[in-house]
Amino acid sequence: MSVSDELERIAAEARRALMAAADAPRIDRLRHELLGRSGELTTLLRQLGTLPADERPAIGQRANEVRRELEDAIRQRLDALRGTDLEARLAAEAIDMSAPGRPVAVGHLHPVQTLVRDLREIFHAYGFEVFEGPEIETEAYNFELLNIPADHPARDLWDTLFVAEPGSVEAGDPKPAADGTILRTHTSPVQMRAMQAIEAPIRVLTPGRCFRYEAVDASHAFEFFQVEGLVVDRDTSLADLKGLLEEVARALYGRDVRTRFRPGYYPFTEPSVAFDIGCLVCGGEGCPACKRSGWMTILGAGMVHPTVLRNGGFDPAEYQGYAFGMGPDRMTMLRHGIGDIRLFFSADLRFATQFAQGS
Ligand code: PHE
Repeated sequence: MSVSDELERIAAEARRALMAAADAPRIDRLRHELLGRSGELTTLLRQLGTLPADERPAIGQRANEVRRELEDAIRQRLDALRGTDLEARLAAEAIDMSAPGRPVAVGHLHPVQTLVRDLREIFHAYGFEVFEGPEIETEAYNFELLNIPADHPARDLWDTLFVAEPGSVEAGDPKPAADGTILRTHTSPVQMRAMQAIEAPIRVLTPGRCFRYEAVDASHAFEFFQVEGLVVDRDTSLADLKGLLEEVARALYGRDVRTRFRPGYYPFTEPSVAFDIGCLVCGGEGCPACKRSGWMTILGAGMVHPTVLRNGGFDPAEYQGYAFGMGPDRMTMLRHGIGDIRLFFSADLRFATQFAQGS
């Protein structure tokens, strides 16, 4: 915006604000914001010196006019508002009913939640319904019922944040709660809750926040989101899982997205796989966001382990199922080319408002 446009904009806004200001303190504040030492108009006047010499006189003259006009208007409004003449005060305090309304700032979803919403829609088309579980879980649901016994080394895969035994922190000797209360490290416990609550066939999507004791860096946060999926039915196979996930990747990232399945390990699925897509931040060359591998793992998956089916009340001889757990934070990084997961939790509006359009 040119200096002279900026000047007229400031003047127009000041006139409008003055008309709308209905008490003396408000007008004092306006005067300060406009004409104070770092006021809007004062700041602009200071910039006039940087203009080309031939433009300076005309704009300078206009700027002085504007300043005088606004000073006069402010004085008049203050006189009227502070005066004892009731008629004058009534006139001064009148509200202009024809003035256009002030725009209301409308918020928008966080980019990660936009992606979660998109996932809900995509999976809805495949018959999945949303089923949510608690963020504060028990070790039984988070681990044992998912075929991860207390002393099993696989537990090290999930660095857990424990809820302290009441009183133990105050006593200077923090201990994990005796009843096994923890912050869930993944959304997989919701698999168990869904199996216990719903009859087959089950097709659920379980989005939610998870927590881990992580060394925080560009691709790890100590709180993050997962979206879990679970299918339990009589004729499900790994081929169904594979086809579904490829379709979902295409729906999210476009038809050209590269995908790959790798063997994986999870105690609650057998066989287990990891599902990667080509890193969209660097195009596959390797960057900090993909740990220089060119691929980003967006989910772990597999066929539900027979023990888990049994714990959920299903006979593995009759029922099979598959499950997957996605990382919507990483998926959002891929979608927008964001190189650092910490930005999602920075509460910085300059970051978040860049995604006002949603996807
Ligand atoms: N819960 C696993 C994790 O957080 C992901 C997963 C979910 C894997 C479902 C397989 C099946 O790492």
